[in-house]
Amino acid sequence: MEKNLSKPFSVFLLWLLSQSVLVCCQLDYKFYDYTCPNLTKIVTYGVWSAIANDTRMAASLLRLHFHDCFVNGCDGSLLLDDTSTFKGEKTALPNINSVRGYEVIDAIKSNVEKACPSTVSCTDIVAMVSRHAVYLAGGPYWALPLGRRDGRTAGSVDEVSQQLPSPFEPLDNITAKFTSKGLNLKDVVVLSGAHTIGFAQCFTFKSRLFNFDGSGNPDPTLDASLLQNLRSVCPNQADSDTKLAPLDPITSTRFDNTYFRNLLNNSGVLQSDQALLGDNTTASMVINYSRFPYLFSRDFGASMVKMSNIDVLTGQNGEIRKNCRVIN
Ligand code: HEM
Ligand SMILES: *[C@@H]1O[C@H](CO)[C@@H](O)[C@H](O)[C@H]1NC(C)=O
Ligand SMILES: *[C@@H]1O[C@H](CO)[C@@H](O)[C@H](O)[C@H]1NC(C)=O
Ligand SMILES: *[C@@H]1O[C@H](CO)[C@@H](O)[C@H](O)[C@H]1NC(C)=O
Ligand SMILES: *[C@@H]1O[C@H](CO)[C@@H](O)[C@H](O)[C@H]1NC(C)=O
Ligand SMILES: *[C@@H]1O[C@H](CO)[C@@H](O)[C@H](O)[C@H]1NC(C)=O
Ligand SMILES: *[C@@H]1O[C@H](CO)[C@@H](O)[C@H](O)[C@H]1NC(C)=O
Repeated sequence: MEKNLSKPFSVFLLWLLSQSVLVCCQLDYKFYDYTCPNLTKIVTYGVWSAIANDTRMAASLLRLHFHDCFVNGCDGSLLLDDTSTFKGEKTALPNINSVRGYEVIDAIKSNVEKACPSTVSCTDIVAMVSRHAVYLAGGPYWALPLGRRDGRTAGSVDEVSQQLPSPFEPLDNITAKFTSKGLNLKDVVVLSGAHTIGFAQCFTFKSRLFNFDGSGNPDPTLDASLLQNLRSVCPNQADSDTKLAPLDPITSTRFDNTYFRNLLNNSGVLQSDQALLGDNTTASMVINYSRFPYLFSRDFGASMVKMSNIDVLTGQNGEIRKNCRVIN
């Protein structure tokens, strides 16, 4: 065998092996530079037009990426529609009637397929879209390595509820969920800053407004004037459950550090938001981000890159879906 291989050819084979080991299975900033040179342009336009039509879409697209990554890894599994034989993540409680923006991803994917068929994963589109949504809302922009592939499986309904943080659980539990994804306490605090844009339905914080923990009183860590506002949006009746209040009551469409400044005034909307001030370590981070917007911008980008890397599929794993809603 070996005798048949010339020395230069063996050297070439070794080189090829080393290249594939180095290059094959990791994300790369230039991943689509040659295979889909107009990708960034197409994504940029798609996100811009979606937000021009509906300002809240910036927030919704950011959250879509988070909910994809925390269940079954960043693999586009959240985008899969249920069928008679397949039950995915979309209809799980934290997602149904809550996650928005699937049509925006479809529209961008369809334009990307026209320019470069079967080349760009839905997962990478979601990651690029969330980055651009933050940028267009006035937030930071960060370098994003690409090359994720789309999953051929999804998390179960139970996994969605178990792995995504809930606004009703204590900080320690939320931190444990982040830690299990390779993120840390700082990531919890920084990424919670995403709540500087977007809206929450009343049922996600209503327990704070009227009879907190069975006390007969509102949550003592909720500012009195914000309490009045929230009670007027969310009266104490079941039919107000799906009404919407901004997560950052001061600058709800602007991606800035006001979220952290609000927490210092007892003006976090979710119990899990205000809880960041109930722990000395996270409180000191909140104070830092409230003082230094640039620090928040920089750390947010870094934590987003970490989140975008959770359990990604690369190389020969997964696939490049043609339609983000169905496995090929
Ligand atoms: C730390 C634990 C977190 C909890 C408990 C939490 C909880 C929630 C809840 C309950 C809502 C309202 C959903 C609804 O009413 O339908 C919400 C909205 C939102 N979340 Fe989080 N979240 C967390 C972390 C994150 C992270 C890490 C991000 C992104 C990096 C994020 C981005 C958003 C955005 C942008 C919205 C508004 C979405 C819209 O208006 O469509 N959240 N979150
Ligand atoms: C990129 O878009 C430009 C127009 O904006 C077009 O002329 C060009 O052909 C596109 N390139 C590719 C490779 O699709
Ligand atoms: C614009 O936004 C509305 C919701 O605010 C949505 O119903 C509609 O489909 C959007 N139109 C386009 C073209 O995206
Ligand atoms: C928090 O986690 C603990 C331990 O895993 C669990 O027993 C408890 O039920 C959780 N609390 C909430 C409110 O989910
Ligand atoms: C927070 O407090 C500062 C000064 O104490 C004030 O200027 C700001 O309006 C307050 N924000 C809220 C949400 O009450
Ligand atoms: C947290 O800070 C408070 C007040 O600054 C202090 O009394 C308390 O001992 C601190 N707790 C811990 C665990 O460091
Ligand atoms: C907050 O910033 C100060 C410096 O301004 C630094 O010493 C401290 O470690 C920071 N706190 C946290 C929790 O990062």
